[in-house]
Amino acid sequence: MLKFAVKRCLKRPVGAHGGARGGVRGGVRHVSQLPPRDEVIPKFSFQKHTHTVSAIDSDVASHFGQEVSLSGWIDKKPKKMGKNIVFATLRDFEGNFTQIVSKDPSIVSLIESANVEDCVTVTGVVEQRRARNAEDKDIRWDVNLREYQTLNHSDVLTAQLESLKATPNDFPQQYRYLQLRIPFYQQALKKRSQAATVVRSELAEMGFTEIETPLLFKSTPEGAREFLVPTRRKDQFYALPQSPQQFKQLLMASGVKNYFQIARCFRDEDLRADRQPEFTQVDLEMSFADAADVQRTVERVVKRIWKEVAQKDIYTLDSTGQAELGPFVHLSYDQVLSQYGIDKPDLRSTLKFHNLEGLATAVENAEYPVFEVCVLPGAFEGKAKLPKKLFDDSEYRNRKPIIVPIKTEDDRTKWVEKFQSMVKFHDLGKINELLNLQVGDVIAGSTRSKLSYENPTPLGRFRQLAISEFPDRWRHDGVDFVGAWVEDFPLFNPHELPEAEKVDYPRYDYTKFVSTHHPFTMAKPEDYERLDSAPLSVKGEHYDLVVNGVELGGGSRRVHDSQVQRFILDEILKVPNPDRLFGHLLKALSMGCPPHAGLALGFDRLCAMLIGSSSIRDVVAFPKTQNGTDPVVESPSTISDEVLKEYHIKKV
Ligand code: AMO
Repeated sequence: MLKFAVKRCLKRPVGAHGGARGGVRGGVRHVSQLPPRDEVIPKFSFQKHTHTVSAIDSDVASHFGQEVSLSGWIDKKPKKMGKNIVFATLRDFEGNFTQIVSKDPSIVSLIESANVEDCVTVTGVVEQRRARNAEDKDIRWDVNLREYQTLNHSDVLTAQLESLKATPNDFPQQYRYLQLRIPFYQQALKKRSQAATVVRSELAEMGFTEIETPLLFKSTPEGAREFLVPTRRKDQFYALPQSPQQFKQLLMASGVKNYFQIARCFRDEDLRADRQPEFTQVDLEMSFADAADVQRTVERVVKRIWKEVAQKDIYTLDSTGQAELGPFVHLSYDQVLSQYGIDKPDLRSTLKFHNLEGLATAVENAEYPVFEVCVLPGAFEGKAKLPKKLFDDSEYRNRKPIIVPIKTEDDRTKWVEKFQSMVKFHDLGKINELLNLQVGDVIAGSTRSKLSYENPTPLGRFRQLAISEFPDRWRHDGVDFVGAWVEDFPLFNPHELPEAEKVDYPRYDYTKFVSTHHPFTMAKPEDYERLDSAPLSVKGEHYDLVVNGVELGGGSRRVHDSQVQRFILDEILKVPNPDRLFGHLLKALSMGCPPHAGLALGFDRLCAMLIGSSSIRDVVAFPKTQNGTDPVVESPSTISDEVLKEYHIKKV
């Protein structure tokens, strides 16, 4: 209730509370009069900081008795203790805290009337800390003030802000700049910057050239919906790039050996915790190179980022499935779908499926003959009840696996009865021997097609839920990050029919194809001929870097032969008028473009993982909301009819 009231106050429209300072809370003073000189000019003349809190913290003893100046904000409402002594918590510009204290009556009255988030500079002597209060028990010293100067007042209500700081995720989004002052976000932005520095340094050492490519691009179908940019030329639009894919290939044709860019990308797609409409990629491309060259390069960059920014290693799996340090394991799409039910498995978990091929056949739907089970050993251990989410229909997009808790000795063999409608069992003895179910286990089973376009499969969703509901179970010990290359994807997927969303089994039009990655990905050489006869059976030279169940990056070996590229666009993807849309690329490929391969890392996802967050919003300074708006600047916004006219746009 309190939180709601707090938010409502903070959300009051800017300028709604006109009047003099002190009376204004929750908005900006909205007075178009020049304030008096003595109120303003002193703010521009101030004592610069001589120290930071961390510098003093690193060797407190040597600073005792020394005079220091610190700059920052009042973090907590000042407390008057006793008659003539006041304490407040100062947060310096590095986000570290110390206590300031004063007995000087003029300073006491200044601090007493201070507001939380007032911007201040203070000067005083470092002393052993006097009063302790429970919240700030880590503060070992304080500064006994000789001077206190307010550099700018904060017009937010102290109580509101203090309560919001305790639950930083609830911050009203239009006040992102206040939220960003919280040390967690300051650290997040710093880590992001450090990661970018490592990228630049490592790639420069490997001979890469950083090159910017245009943001005003052209509308070309590449997968996601684009953002269009109108121009003042009638019927002429730019589109913002979904990625610099075509430009980086043009750079390969331009004789650049190894290119990279920390690139802004734009995609008008449904937003989730790991998706923003504008986001950043570490985009790279190498000529006279193949997939292995790109993968080696990317592993070096990513592992160095983890070492230097998170002081952690990324493990991988050895051939027996144990976690080890070393080059990332290569897993095929078929392998990950059949073992984990998803193309981006979280390999921190040891949970794997049992494929009962030969021992059982799924009979419910002829297109879905594969029957697999996933066992959660000892899932009841220490729990009276299993998590509800595991059984929640809405988590499974219309196709929930059958889930059977093994509650009694009888259930150890009787569990199969629950699957009669779905599966024909050929050898129950062998199945029970293989699974060796125990009381306290949970078994889930589901079906899939041989080459699964359903991704994740229902059982894959079950595994993901089990991992999130039992975060400490069935894990490789002492391992925080596990990475792998996932490759050998089908080059094309059949077009999924829109009604598939509503039915249990997804449905496809097998005569229409979409690229699994993008249309510039080359087929595996051994499948090349089938591009003509059976495109759906062709595997692509596409590889994803997956860490902890997150697709951190994706790339491929490219088609550098213009005729093959034309065939894919024209004959397989049926792109209308490929010359109008992709003529630039087809021409460049036809003029001696070298073989090339590349990849793009999702930089926001990478940074979120480095700080242990599941939301990329935490590492983007000014992210968009779920519905694509920016509440700080209030965009998108309307445009007057007059201006629209210049762009030949009419409202409908
Ligand atoms: P892809 O589309 O797989 O490949 O994108 C590469 C990586 O970018 C990240 N990513 C996103 N991050 C935040 N918000 C989004 N909306 C978003 N979409 C993608 C993911 C993803 O792995 N041009 C190719 C790369 C190449 O082939 O070289 C491309 O863009 O982490």
